[in-house]
Amino acid sequence: MKAFILAAGSTSLDGVQQVELEKPVAGPGEILVSMKAASLNFRDLGIIAGKYFGGPVQKDTVLLSDGAGEVEAVGEGVSRFQVGDKVAGTFFKDLIEGPANPMVNPALGHSADGVLAQYMVLNENDAVKIPANLNYQEAACLPCAALTAWHAMMTAGRPVTKGDTVLLLGTGGVSTIALQFAKALEAKVIITSSSNDKLAKAKEMGADLLINYNEHPDWDDEVKKINDGQGVDCIVEVGGIGTINKSMNCLGLGGKIGMIGVLAGADGECNPRSLMMTGSSIHGIFVGNRQMFEEMNKAIEEHDIHPVVDKAFDFDDAVEAIKYFKSQAHMGKVVINIS
Ligand SMILES: NC(=O)c1ccc[n+]([C@@H]2O[C@H](COP(=O)([O-])OP(=O)(O)OC[C@H]3O[C@@H](n4cnc5c(N)ncnc54)[C@H](OP(=O)(O)O)[C@@H]3O)[C@@H](O)[C@H]2O)c1
Repeated sequence: MKAFILAAGSTSLDGVQQVELEKPVAGPGEILVSMKAASLNFRDLGIIAGKYFGGPVQKDTVLLSDGAGEVEAVGEGVSRFQVGDKVAGTFFKDLIEGPANPMVNPALGHSADGVLAQYMVLNENDAVKIPANLNYQEAACLPCAALTAWHAMMTAGRPVTKGDTVLLLGTGGVSTIALQFAKALEAKVIITSSSNDKLAKAKEMGADLLINYNEHPDWDDEVKKINDGQGVDCIVEVGGIGTINKSMNCLGLGGKIGMIGVLAGADGECNPRSLMMTGSSIHGIFVGNRQMFEEMNKAIEEHDIHPVVDKAFDFDDAVEAIKYFKSQAHMGKVVINIS
């Protein structure tokens, strides 16, 4: 079978190689999945650059965490799936409930082989059925980006509810699906972007208030100004240290921040003093568990939510897909078809 691996010790795109691997076989309790689509996440750029947790990968590793496919065979004793089921693997292995522990829960595309291959074998406990309303490209957007947004909004602290205000930073994979979740929940959305074109698309998707963070470097002041002087209830914080201080300024009483990303830097100073004055909280988010994934999938079906696929590339063009994703020209997700 064809697969894309990151060669052991790689620190650049040069380490991304298309290889021929032996087609795996499902053992007891396992399913063989014929992969149909995969999607890229910001972490994949860090892994390729050898800068993700723990440095460069120690062994040749099949790339990417997020994918979806069809069950082609089931091993002895499998009870959760049948041949023909449409499935996605979970980001972490062995994580049905509770928080992830990277020391004991290998993550696809990094400490475990990932999804950018024609076939993969998963333990039946490390997979979910995809929402019935989604095609494979859309379902390939769920395991990391969507689940992270869902966790921050619905599981960490008070769940977002009708009438809440949600602040989203930028229009990448996590923020765009968060916008879709928020609108399905009838929340008000304030979204920032460096691009007025992307803001216009966000508006079409239902975003209520828009801020260009390049035109408004003090976007935290702008949030309150355009929101009638009010702070927000939930922030999906994908910026990290470069945005967290401003994000805290945007919180309303009893608000919450889902601490997720590093888009605006990984190290620096943060002063949480203002949280005292608003009775707010910050929750660390590391993707999510299978139970959350299944709950999210129910909501995706119920509200007929379709993740935004910005662009889909052919399998053989995976390196071009990674370059395009890295340019941040996308809004939503960049997908690679697998055939
Ligand atoms: N903790 C977790 O479990 C977890 C899970 C998933 C993702 N993450 C993290 O969350 C972040 C987002 O991931 P992703 O896959 O959604 O990324 P992505 O799709 O690559 O997002 C790219 C977009 O982020 C926006 N952006 C970049 N710098 C920004 C800044 N300084 N302020 C505001 N927006 C900025 C830009 O949007 P515009 O073009 O609109 O300006 C850019 O196009 C990453 O740091 C990732 O590592 C963490």
